[in-house]
Amino acid sequence: MANTRFVKIHDQLHYIGVNDRYTHLFEAMWPLPDGISYNSYLLDGGSETCLIDCVKIDSIIEFMEKLRSVLGGRGLDYVVVNHMEPDHTSSLKAVVESFPGCKVITNSKAVKMMENFYGIGEDRVVLVGDGDTVKIGERELTFYSTPMVHWPESMVCFEEATGTLFSQDAFGGYGTLDGAIFDDQIEWDKYRDETVRYYTNIVGKYSVQVTRALKKLEGLDIKMICPDHGPIWRENIEPIVKLYSDLSEQKTEDGVLIVYGSMYGNTEMMAEAIARALTEEGVRNIRIRDVSKTHLSYLISETWNYRGIILGCPTYNVDLFPPMRTLVETLKKQKMKNHILGTFTNYSWGGGAEKQMAAFAEESKWEVLPTTIDVMGAPEDEDLEKCRQMAKEMAEALAKYR
Ligand code: FEO
Repeated sequence: MANTRFVKIHDQLHYIGVNDRYTHLFEAMWPLPDGISYNSYLLDGGSETCLIDCVKIDSIIEFMEKLRSVLGGRGLDYVVVNHMEPDHTSSLKAVVESFPGCKVITNSKAVKMMENFYGIGEDRVVLVGDGDTVKIGERELTFYSTPMVHWPESMVCFEEATGTLFSQDAFGGYGTLDGAIFDDQIEWDKYRDETVRYYTNIVGKYSVQVTRALKKLEGLDIKMICPDHGPIWRENIEPIVKLYSDLSEQKTEDGVLIVYGSMYGNTEMMAEAIARALTEEGVRNIRIRDVSKTHLSYLISETWNYRGIILGCPTYNVDLFPPMRTLVETLKKQKMKNHILGTFTNYSWGGGAEKQMAAFAEESKWEVLPTTIDVMGAPEDEDLEKCRQMAKEMAEALAKYR
């Protein structure tokens, strides 16, 4: 009878990751409606064994049972730490204490964090640098540094004999592995949006470094990708690499995302008017989001995807409506590009939002539509006409890319 504590990838490699369906917010910020998996792998080199990345401490009992079960009474010689974020290392201390002879394979940037986070000293470490190799019995791992994908110490390792890339956060996504662990066992459509949201939330800001890392790994003959989150890629390697490549290059899609804030409906009325006019102008991919209701995580993900972005909100304390202020500040930090921007604002006595939106527009370096709209209270016919004009300009700007 097959052991259900672990999954065989091939004779010398087993999956011993865990699912997290209890955490509400990843990094205490990003919603996990479909949970997340923390993947871990046991590489068997015959005379030596090696664990590749660990899991979050919350699942330590389950994880140690899996590890002991797959080892079947043998010892653990090495643990590779490709990335120090605690979703992959908070169980490391328990592992090294359970296997006192085992060494941690990692790089110099990770060593300081390891000492600081877990009190694991350099005496337990085998240091590797970019391009270094380490023998695990009859197997061999080569290490490549991939800084800022996702942290400065992040690296990946490659087993050339089987063409297996252990890619840590790269090529990962939100969503638990519900029985299936391989890409050819899942319905990818159910994972795609959560992979995009994971990328844009977690590593999107470092897209330049992601592009650099993808370039670096280009020459490897990759037959399987084992990431630290989400499915293992063995049949559809090209699509997941292309998705990450397109995201890192910020290839935005034809269409318009309108995000508005509205306390009593007047600003919302303008959002609706713009969307209706966009439809009449022939734009087919339009989405309206209420900034107060849609979590920032999803707004980041959707903003990343749409070429046309229209933001609107009322003035609040001589500034942007606070949820819109949060979004705008996040977009600035995300360093997004390849967007066309339109903005509309509202006020009841003194203004303020219009000036702040103009400042954002200038700083964004996006293509900015000539028409901006600032309305006092309920929009009148001439204000709605300006909404129509803004939609016309957006439709024309988008058409240039088709
Ligand atoms: Fe999955 Fe950056 O940790």
